[in-house]
Amino acid sequence: MADHATVKKAVIPAAGLGTRFLPATKATPKEMLPVVDKPAIQYVVEEAVSAGLDDVLLITGRSKRSIEDHFDRAYELEEALAAKDETERLAQVRESSELAHVEYVRQGDPKGLGHAVSCAEYHVGNEPFAVLLGDDLIDPRDPLLTRMIEVRNARGGSVVALMEVDPEQVSQYGCAAITPTGEDDVVTVTDLVEKPVPGSAPSRWIIIGRYVCDPAVFEVLRNTPPGRGGEIQLTDALKTLAKTSPADGGGVYGILFRGRRYDTGNKLDYLRTLVQFACERSDLAQEIVPWLRKYLDTLP
Ligand code: UTP
Repeated sequence: MADHATVKKAVIPAAGLGTRFLPATKATPKEMLPVVDKPAIQYVVEEAVSAGLDDVLLITGRSKRSIEDHFDRAYELEEALAAKDETERLAQVRESSELAHVEYVRQGDPKGLGHAVSCAEYHVGNEPFAVLLGDDLIDPRDPLLTRMIEVRNARGGSVVALMEVDPEQVSQYGCAAITPTGEDDVVTVTDLVEKPVPGSAPSRWIIIGRYVCDPAVFEVLRNTPPGRGGEIQLTDALKTLAKTSPADGGGVYGILFRGRRYDTGNKLDYLRTLVQFACERSDLAQEIVPWLRKYLDTLP
């Protein structure tokens, strides 16, 4: 294994405006919307912890209170549950406050994902770090982040997660130009194209919400002008790093992820995620699955 600093910190941006989910996101961050009985962001923190990263920095925005409260103790509630001997519920309430060491930084103005990541510089310092989008869930049975950290440790540089989509969908995402490395699930990213014009995409592999970044990304972000939507884009900074020499912190690798990913940032995918999670939960499946079958039969 090459001698590269390992990843210890996770950065979870959750300061976006969530306009695709209004009005639910008027006073609640979309990352706090429940997936069955836990907010989406708790699954994301759990994923970071299972990959060995229990130093978690959350980038929060205007309605950050509910996020802070969720990862804090809730004494009144805990006392009330203890007094009623509700031990299982008490454990559930405590779980989120005991998961990880969580700190917060506020992104005053939501100027894009790249800008949100640059707010982490003081906390992260000169170390590689993981970025997990708070509205993007990866199934715990498919340990993507662990694999990304392995690849960073072996090769240095930055690592993005890529998923293959149908050709007609590519133009909705950031798309990667890739070349093989000799390892089946690892590619070198030679270029990144944000929302390519249909027919001009360099591949069918799109970037999803997991990154391992070399700290060189902070300097690049400082020099990255606002891109699509007037926002500072993390994709633009990674595109620069893909063309930078490894001696200067450059080099971007892609993991070809073929596992299960759930997007909770838009209404339709959120609903799909809810139904899937509910149908797979041992405490709910027995009732929800037959109900769903019956309900579908009533539809025209
Ligand atoms: P999105 O691209 O989903 O944007 O952000 P958004 O603003 O949250 O939602 P829409 O498009 O208006 O519905 C991807 C991730 O980056 C975070 C979001 O919270 C989300 O986790 N983000 C985005 C920030 O933290 N700050 C920003 O300025 C923008």
